[in-house]
Amino acid sequence: MIISGKARCAAVIGWPVSHSKSPRLHGYWLDHYEIDGVLVPLAVAPQHFNAVLRQISKMGFVGACVTLPHKQAALAAVDQVDETAKSIGAVNTIIINPDGGLYGQNTDGYGFIENLKQHAPEWHPQKGAAVVLGAGGAARAVLYALSQSGVPEIRLVNRTRSKAQELADVLSSNLTSTLHVHDWEEREVILAGAKLLVNTTLLGMDGQASLDLSLETLDREALVTDIVYTPLMTPLLKSAQARGNMVVDGLGMLIHQARPGFKAWFGREPEVTDDVRNFLLLEK
Ligand code: ATR
Repeated sequence: MIISGKARCAAVIGWPVSHSKSPRLHGYWLDHYEIDGVLVPLAVAPQHFNAVLRQISKMGFVGACVTLPHKQAALAAVDQVDETAKSIGAVNTIIINPDGGLYGQNTDGYGFIENLKQHAPEWHPQKGAAVVLGAGGAARAVLYALSQSGVPEIRLVNRTRSKAQELADVLSSNLTSTLHVHDWEEREVILAGAKLLVNTTLLGMDGQASLDLSLETLDREALVTDIVYTPLMTPLLKSAQARGNMVVDGLGMLIHQARPGFKAWFGREPEVTDDVRNFLLLEK
């Protein structure tokens, strides 16, 4: 990578940030499209987050992606925010205007839906109910995106039911879908009749506990997706595929959520190809 003095500079801000795939992803696209730009990782502790944002806006940066644990702080820190980020309660993409003003967006839900559209074009949101496992930050974006895309009913189930209920209470005024909260013990019963199953928990990720879920009650034509992408084929996806369900892995969500930022900062709509997927998978 060779950049000039005119290079457009963006950042990914996290704490820690060393695990972030964003520098590699944006770097791949910058190289591929021969764009004079760079996206640098900035490890920023929570107490310094606001100051760093203000500083990079004075340093000519064009924007930043924001990862854990800063997504909620970013919502509070920006000058303007889009409706989606406001509804989800978190910002993951910041565009720095030429006057230094910070504009916040949330593209996680967009990335989630675009990934399904690309890899499971047969699935239509209006087809029927979705079961969502988990009630953390990722679930918030997924619930909002499912509702926006027209899923009629969402069954939300989480180990700690009160967290799912809290999430439902916060989001309900922004959702058009009917949202039901269920006990963790009900997670298999509620699969019956669902057209989509989404895992937003960390269960099944390398180094984490496994997800204890029998798919026996799930329709064979239901789509199954996982936001975990290490491993790419999680045990959930493997068992779904083995019984004939369509499956979509979580890597595409990561790639698709990055597209709006790349377009805004570097001026080109990037493509999600097998090559970019494979490039990200090469990293250990
Ligand atoms: P994120 O913000 O990235 O989504 P998170 O807030 O840590 O991550 O959420 C992790 C999700 O995984 C939560 O829904 C969590 O359930 P709790 O709300 O009960 O903590 C879920 N989770 C983590 N470990 C779990 C386990 N062993 N069994 C069931 N759910 C689990």
